[in-house]
Amino acid sequence: MQQVREELPDWRGGGVSVMERGHREDDFLRCAHEAEADLRALMEIPDDYHVLFLHGGAQLQFAAVPMNLAAGQSLTADYVNSGHWAALAMAEARRYLTVNECATVADAGAVAMPEEGAWRRGGDAGYLHYTPNETISGLEFHRVPDAGDATLVADMSSVILSRRFAVRRFGLIYAGAQKNIGPAGLAVVIVRRDLAARAAAAGAVPRVMNYAAQAAAGSMVNTPPVFAWYVAGLVLRWLRKNGGVAAMEKQNAEKSSVLYNCIDNSGGFYRNRVAAAWRSRMNIPFTLAAPQLEEAFLAAAAAAGLAGLRGHRAAGGLRASLYNAVPPAGVLQLTEFMNHFRQTRG
Ligand SMILES: Cc1ncc(COP(=O)(O)O)c(C=O)c1O
Repeated sequence: MQQVREELPDWRGGGVSVMERGHREDDFLRCAHEAEADLRALMEIPDDYHVLFLHGGAQLQFAAVPMNLAAGQSLTADYVNSGHWAALAMAEARRYLTVNECATVADAGAVAMPEEGAWRRGGDAGYLHYTPNETISGLEFHRVPDAGDATLVADMSSVILSRRFAVRRFGLIYAGAQKNIGPAGLAVVIVRRDLAARAAAAGAVPRVMNYAAQAAAGSMVNTPPVFAWYVAGLVLRWLRKNGGVAAMEKQNAEKSSVLYNCIDNSGGFYRNRVAAAWRSRMNIPFTLAAPQLEEAFLAAAAAAGLAGLRGHRAAGGLRASLYNAVPPAGVLQLTEFMNHFRQTRG
């Protein structure tokens, strides 16, 4: 943020901001390529994958994925319904192909997914779509599913760069940038070249959504989200300088266990409903045994400098999101506050 502020009026000595520079000028092309190279290095993305920086956030990809991968043919896809975001991805895909909901989250007692062996996989599915981290309910898959002969597709919006993934296991990864990458509106798509080539045949896919067209144009079929791409580049460089994804993974495991311990040792004052094996390291929703104290909790937290703890409007309650940008000291401060609040209000 400080670097953006300092160089905003005069980016790379051009006398104007990055937003005012042509996206095909050498300075911006260099910036764009550096961001891509840093993401490739951070995630160890093999050369036979394209990396695209696209408009429209993650939800545009809910449509772009089936449109590109079906490529004008009738296709069936398996969708793992793990919660809010997976369900939206599935509903959007239904417009373009036949969707088989192969597994559904259990939400009655503890929130959990059925074991993989019990998933009702369609034998002829072209791809298997899942959401490795459900941002609202705080459910995370700690193992990458085995897609068998199908292509594995993942919405990594709220988990990308928080832990290591073997990109080779996936045909396509997409993520809205706004959690661990940069400003909202940008989506990163990592797609194996042969899959993107399929899209070339899909005449009905708008060019700005067509992976093959975007790959051929260096993500510049139209003017790219220049400012978001530039900020993403700064974040990716910061990440590389700070130990990369392995360091974040370790830190995120520690951060989340501090908060889960605080919740689990609160004698029921705070409660998280996700089964232990499915608990997210990025998003930790919790409720108070006395829900009428929620507003007082939020007000006292804000007064203590702790912001953004209100749960998603679809879920209510409270939620702490421990994205890469949250330092361990921030989590300690939060748990100290929570302990104090419990002791004084419990
Ligand atoms: C897992 C997941 N998928 C998709 C989205 C939607 O992203 P966007 O608002 O960029 O379309 C979100 C929310 O930010 C998310 O957490």
